[in-house]
Amino acid sequence: MDQIIVTGNGQLSGQIPIAGAKNACLTLMPATLLSEEPLTLTNAPRLSDIRTMTTLLQSLGAEVQALQDGQVLAMSSHDLTSTRADYDIVRKMRASILVLGPLLARFGHAEVSLPGGCAIGARPVDLHLKAFEAMGAELDLRDGYVHAKAPAGGLKGGIVDFPFVSVGATENALMAATLAKGTTVLRNAAREPEIVDLAQCLRKMGAQIDGEGTSEITIQGVDRLGGATHRVVTDRIELGTYMLAPAICGGEVECLGGKIELLAAFCEKLDAAGISVEETLTGLKVARKNGRVSAVDVTTEPFPGFPTDLQAQMMALLCTAEGTSVLEEKIFENRFMHAPELIRMGAKIDVHGGTATVQGVDRLRGAPVMATDLRASVSLILAGLAAEGETIVSRVYHLDRGYEHVVRKLESVGAKIERVKEQ
Ligand code: UD1
Repeated sequence: MDQIIVTGNGQLSGQIPIAGAKNACLTLMPATLLSEEPLTLTNAPRLSDIRTMTTLLQSLGAEVQALQDGQVLAMSSHDLTSTRADYDIVRKMRASILVLGPLLARFGHAEVSLPGGCAIGARPVDLHLKAFEAMGAELDLRDGYVHAKAPAGGLKGGIVDFPFVSVGATENALMAATLAKGTTVLRNAAREPEIVDLAQCLRKMGAQIDGEGTSEITIQGVDRLGGATHRVVTDRIELGTYMLAPAICGGEVECLGGKIELLAAFCEKLDAAGISVEETLTGLKVARKNGRVSAVDVTTEPFPGFPTDLQAQMMALLCTAEGTSVLEEKIFENRFMHAPELIRMGAKIDVHGGTATVQGVDRLRGAPVMATDLRASVSLILAGLAAEGETIVSRVYHLDRGYEHVVRKLESVGAKIERVKEQ
C-alpha cells in the first residue's frame, strides 16, 4: 500500500487545473442505461470510483471505453445482458445504487445489491426506494438485494415528496422519471450543481425536465431517449480542496476552471477567515490576505449551503486559525474521523456528537496519520502542507477514489510531497 509524505515547505504559488466532477460523472455514467444510443462524456476525472462504475456498467453488458487517457468515456447500452448489480461491486461504492432508477425505467425490473454502511455513517437508501414506489414500482428486499418491478406498461409519473434533501435519491428519481408515463414532480429535491449537470445531459438525450437547480423538479416522461455528448461540470469539491492549499500555506494559487457560483457559501467563509478569492477569466485566484487566518464557524448543509464534502479540509485550515471555530456537521452522523488524526499533529479539537470545536494553535507538527475516508485523507495532506516537519499519510487508496494526480498538482505549485510504497 502506498503512503504520501508531505513536508511543510512554505508558501505556494502557481496554477492547478481542476478536473471534472466525480459526483457528477458517477450519476451521468448510469444515465447511459436509459438509452440504446451512445452517450459520450468528456472532461471525465481519472479516478478509481469512475473505474468501479465502469466495471459495474460493463457487468450489465454496457460498453464503456475510456479514451484520451480516460478523459472521454464513450458508452453504449445497446446490448445489455443483465439488470442485476452484484454485491461484489456495489459494496465497493455506494453510488452503485444509481443504476437502479435507469434499469427499472428502461426494462421494468432491476435487482441491485443494497450498499452497506460506510465510514461516515449508516447511509440508508430508503428515500431512493420511496421515490420508485411513488412511481408505481413494487419493491422487495431479499438476500441483501432490492428487487424492483415496475407496473405492467412501465413506471408511472407521480409526486415524490422527499422528507429531507438527498442528492442520490434526487438523481435516481430524476433518471427514472424521464421514461415514466406522465408527469413526475420531485419536491424538496436536491439543488447541487451535479443535479443541474445531470438534468442538462438528460435533456440533450431528449428528456423533458423543468426546475433543476430549484427544490421542485418536474419531469414529463417520454417514450425513449437518444444519445448525447456531454461535458462533465467542474468538480467543486476538488476546487474547494485546492483553494484551501494557499489558504493554509500562504501564497497565491489560481484554480483553473473554478467559479464562485459553484461554492458561494464556502467562498464567504474563506473571506471571513481572511482569504481573498478573485474570479479571473480562467478560474479562481486564492491568496491569504495577511497574517494568521481568523476563526470562523461552519455548518454543513445541502447546496447552496456549505458542503459536507469540504468540512474535513476546512477543519484543517481552522486548526491554525486565530481563535476558536465551531464546525457543525448536519449531513452525516460520523464525519469527524479526521479530528483524532489532526490532534496527533498538535491540533486542539473537541468533538461532541455532530459538533467539533477547534481552538487554533500557532503551528501543526508533522506525524504519521491514517486516512479514514476520501475527504478526511485530503484534509491530512492539507494539514501536512502547513505542518512543521514530515507528515506520513497512509491508506491513500481513499484518496485515489476522488483526487487525480494529487501529488503532481500540489508539487506544481511548490509543495514538497511524494508518494512512496509503504515500508
Ligand atoms: C452525495 C455525494 C457525497 C456527498 C453527499 C451530500 C455522490 C456520489 N456522493 O452522497 O459525496 O457527501 O451527496 O452532499 O454524489 N439519506 C437517507 N436515506 C436515503 C438517502 C440519504 O437517510 O435514501 C441520508 C444520508 O444518510 C445522509 C443524508 O441523507 O445523512 C444526505 O445524503 P445524500 O444527499 O443522499 O448523499 P449521497 O447521495 O449518498
